[in-house]
Amino acid sequence: MSVIIEPFRIKVVEPIRRTTREERDRILAAAGYNLFKVPADAILIDLLTDSGTGAMSSAQWAGMMRGDESYAGSPSFRRFEAAVRDIYGFRHVIPTHQGRAAERILAATLCRPGHVVPNNTHFDTTRANIEATGATALDLPCAQARDLGTPHPFKGDIDIEALERVLDEHRGQVPFVMVTVTNNGGGGQPVSMANLRAASALCRSRAVPFYLDACRFAENAWFIHEREEGWAGRELIDIARAMFELADGCTMSAKKDGMANIGGFLCTNDDAVARQEEELLILTEGFPTYGGLAGRDLEAIAVGLYEALDLDYQRYRAASTRYLGEGIARGGVPIVQPPGGHAIYVDAGGMLPHLVPADYPGQALALELYLEAGIRSVEIGSVMFGRRDPASGRETYAAQELLRLAIPRRVYTKSQIDYVVEAILAIHARRETVRGVRIVEQPEALRHFSAVFDRLPETVPAGAG
Ligand code: F0G
Repeated sequence: MSVIIEPFRIKVVEPIRRTTREERDRILAAAGYNLFKVPADAILIDLLTDSGTGAMSSAQWAGMMRGDESYAGSPSFRRFEAAVRDIYGFRHVIPTHQGRAAERILAATLCRPGHVVPNNTHFDTTRANIEATGATALDLPCAQARDLGTPHPFKGDIDIEALERVLDEHRGQVPFVMVTVTNNGGGGQPVSMANLRAASALCRSRAVPFYLDACRFAENAWFIHEREEGWAGRELIDIARAMFELADGCTMSAKKDGMANIGGFLCTNDDAVARQEEELLILTEGFPTYGGLAGRDLEAIAVGLYEALDLDYQRYRAASTRYLGEGIARGGVPIVQPPGGHAIYVDAGGMLPHLVPADYPGQALALELYLEAGIRSVEIGSVMFGRRDPASGRETYAAQELLRLAIPRRVYTKSQIDYVVEAILAIHARRETVRGVRIVEQPEALRHFSAVFDRLPETVPAGAG
């Protein structure tokens, strides 16, 4: 059989609510044209994020019932720790309430002012946690990553030559190097084993710890299985173990490939670093056998990590993301190629050439998609990464104006994805009518979460009327 089907059946359903165009107009105006402020029950299909929004399995729910809520020494922690050790192989496993808490503890322990931390592309919370210590977060994506429309099997790779230069120029000032698998900031693209090996060897030759941001490690293992010579017949768990063997530690958000709704962890092989990290953990997260999580969350993660490594699940996951990407690309919508693991990134700047960066094309498209069909997505462009100088009011814009359609795990069916494709193609057919956006109010940091926007008046397209 050639059709790739969902490798599960549905046991529990959750209704989703249709709204009318007039309702959506009102809801969006009341939310200041910011989709983060739209009530989630006024959204029909929510592609804002793949983080913590997945459906848990019956085995995970069974684990939830087994959860032991003891403050110290919970057997749920032991099961969680055994699963993480089995797959990741690191000596110390420190639970946290989510990925960014692991990042904060890692950065506070290892980073100092003047330090430089390279990554293929830092996720925004990783960058913010590193920069909060006075260190600099440096992105070193490979050259192929810059060309959005051209496929390449491993666009998530870190630029090895640039990494070597940085390690030489900042000798003694690089507390660790990180590689994000898959590279979320760079279009959800995978990193090859060869690239991980080269980065790891370079770091080891300079005695610099090598870390993975492992949120989507199982999706990355799948792409290595599919695309890299020598890995085709291997189990995903073996590929994951080979990835982690190259590293000295990792941060993890279990809300992604932990298949859980909350949770994360931090790992290291360094006993002294682990001791300091556990002290910080107790201060803000909790005792080291729960780290801000309930025992039942630890159980759900212990089961979920293995489910993410199931070959059938990953085959379906990649096929369904690709199905969305190919569906809109066939209709002429420019996307980051090839489709990534957890999301499709529309090149909103390319799709809406009548809008300049100051019109925020990604935000304009996100609003249009909600108004058209009740679908929520997220702008990854100048709203998120642009900066306004508070003194001069002058703005610098992002390099790319993207719209991310993130796919929650095991949640939406093929017909729901067909609905998303139809909605985007309908907008594409009348794309010159999509109205630009202005920022009316904004905070100084992380403005995409709380800024207030307005839509520009409709303009008559050139040549019309
Ligand atoms: N690293 C990466 C690569 C991520 O994608 C995220 C979260 C984090 C770290 C932080 O983890 O949310 O558990 O604190 N990404 C989500 C997203 C929010 O929508 O891409 P967290």
